Amino acid sequence: MLQPLIRLLLLCTLIIFYCNGLQAQDPQTPFAYSVRKTAFVNHGAVVSAHPLASKAGVDMLRKGGNAFDAAIATQLTLAVVYPAAGNIGGGGFMVAHTSTGKDLALDFREKAPAAATRDMYLDSAGNARTDLSQNGHLASGVPGAIAGIFEELRYAKLPMSTLIQPAIDLAENGFALTAAEAHSLNSTQEAFKRYNTVLPVFVKATPWKAGDTLVQKDLAMTLKRIRDKGAKGFYEGETARLILEEMRRGKGILTAADLQTYTAKTRPATLFPYKQYTIVTMPLPSSGGVVLQQMLKMVENQPLAGYGFESVKAVHLMTEVERLAYADRAQYLGDRDYYSVPVDTLTSQAYLHSRMAAFQPDKAGNSKDISAGVLSPKSEETTHFDVIDNDGNAVSITTTLNGGYGSRVVVGGAGFFLNNEMDDFSVKPGVPNMYGAVGTEANAIAPGKRMLSSMTPTLVLDKGKVFLVVGTPGGTTITTSVFQTLVDILDFGLSTQDAVNNPKFHHQWLPDELYVEPAFPTAVREQLTSMGYKVIQRGSIGRTEVIKVLPGHKLEAVGDGRGDDTAEGY
Ligand code: GLY
Repeated sequence: MLQPLIRLLLLCTLIIFYCNGLQAQDPQTPFAYSVRKTAFVNHGAVVSAHPLASKAGVDMLRKGGNAFDAAIATQLTLAVVYPAAGNIGGGGFMVAHTSTGKDLALDFREKAPAAATRDMYLDSAGNARTDLSQNGHLASGVPGAIAGIFEELRYAKLPMSTLIQPAIDLAENGFALTAAEAHSLNSTQEAFKRYNTVLPVFVKATPWKAGDTLVQKDLAMTLKRIRDKGAKGFYEGETARLILEEMRRGKGILTAADLQTYTAKTRPATLFPYKQYTIVTMPLPSSGGVVLQQMLKMVENQPLAGYGFESVKAVHLMTEVERLAYADRAQYLGDRDYYSVPVDTLTSQAYLHSRMAAFQPDKAGNSKDISAGVLSPKSEETTHFDVIDNDGNAVSITTTLNGGYGSRVVVGGAGFFLNNEMDDFSVKPGVPNMYGAVGTEANAIAPGKRMLSSMTPTLVLDKGKVFLVVGTPGGTTITTSVFQTLVDILDFGLSTQDAVNNPKFHHQWLPDELYVEPAFPTAVREQLTSMGYKVIQRGSIGRTEVIKVLPGHKLEAVGDGRGDDTAEGY
């Protein structure tokens, strides 16, 4: 009598756990806007997508490390505890300001393998095969994350053996999944089975649930090789051998030479004034810097504050500015090492002034031309984190596998996901990628070229000192979210928490649609619709992290309420 009852109870518990997991990630469910994740601290702070990653970073600050130490520990820990986007098999960008007043931009974006060709994702009839640029072994660019981390190490104080240990421990001994992570793993089981040549630890016969322990022994071994041999522990030796074996089994095209020749590139950061502030952000191959500069400069002299936050006038103006900047993104932007991009013209006052000439205060604009793409909110699985220390160093890093779990391919025996960043190239002019973004020659595939990105790690300086550290994941919505967060704080005077958590919107020229989060005010939606906008409600937009420096070097670190994001400090 008792046994069936206990079984029933267990079953009900499982169903409740599972449904809670679903609810936590349902993209149409507005998250609790009342959830506030703010740390007010004095010495240093980390905001990231996962509590264990934020903790690993703050532990390094407490041990005497600086913001770069904390960033490395956070980045490596994210690769273990947030496998959907944290990574060692992907790439990203860092924007930083040092205690000596230097502004840095580090590009550890993936590059196309030497065997990549412009038409590699076209079938014999010339149709785009985005299934191949998005999934499986052909979708991966050469990973840049580990090369990036060893460049970051040049500014750090602690040894790699200390910085990587939290990640090794969490991979080796396991950690408890959150409800959101359990849901995310459950919803990707079929893809894991389909695209892997060796079944990874993420595949499970019964659904994952919150509190389950995820142990990643192969990943722990890979991290130990990196600890002991440096970047060569990834790009050469046993890890490289395992990657090449995986490529052979899955008919991928990455070679030993691709891995050995990968380098992260330090580039001049993009700096421009906005009102009394200096914006420091990422240059190409991120579109983020150019697009952010265009958008901010087009609104700088407009009376946004007078219009009011989320007023119809403000949203209309900002949407039209987003439309114009994203049209230029599609036409002109790509890896500047391979294609000549007229950045100076695109960001000049005269050009931006002429772009705004067609703005009609009472009517939606119109994105004519090529056919519209479809946004896919489920795949916006990049991740962003901010760090600031007591010495005046600030680090803003966005890193990605591109889609959730990247190509879905785990390197057999090495335990990490490979990216599907090749989809960020324009596989065919006018054909939308997984974010609905289109491109042209500027972003066509070429061997060794870096695919255009939207990642926009950004700092705001006030009189030469760091005032804000900002960034977010979210595919093409990244730059519009950073734009809105900056304007919300600098123009509308919103609190940091409200700027992070209040509903966001997004327009990217094509498709000609205005995306809004579920909590976006209905009355504003209705008025925008009557002005001619096609307004579409979608799931959450981004997971914005902000650190604000308050008077007296007090720090306000805010994690986004949309996910497991956590702000920590001391
Ligand atoms: N993979 C997303 C981005 O780089 O924008």
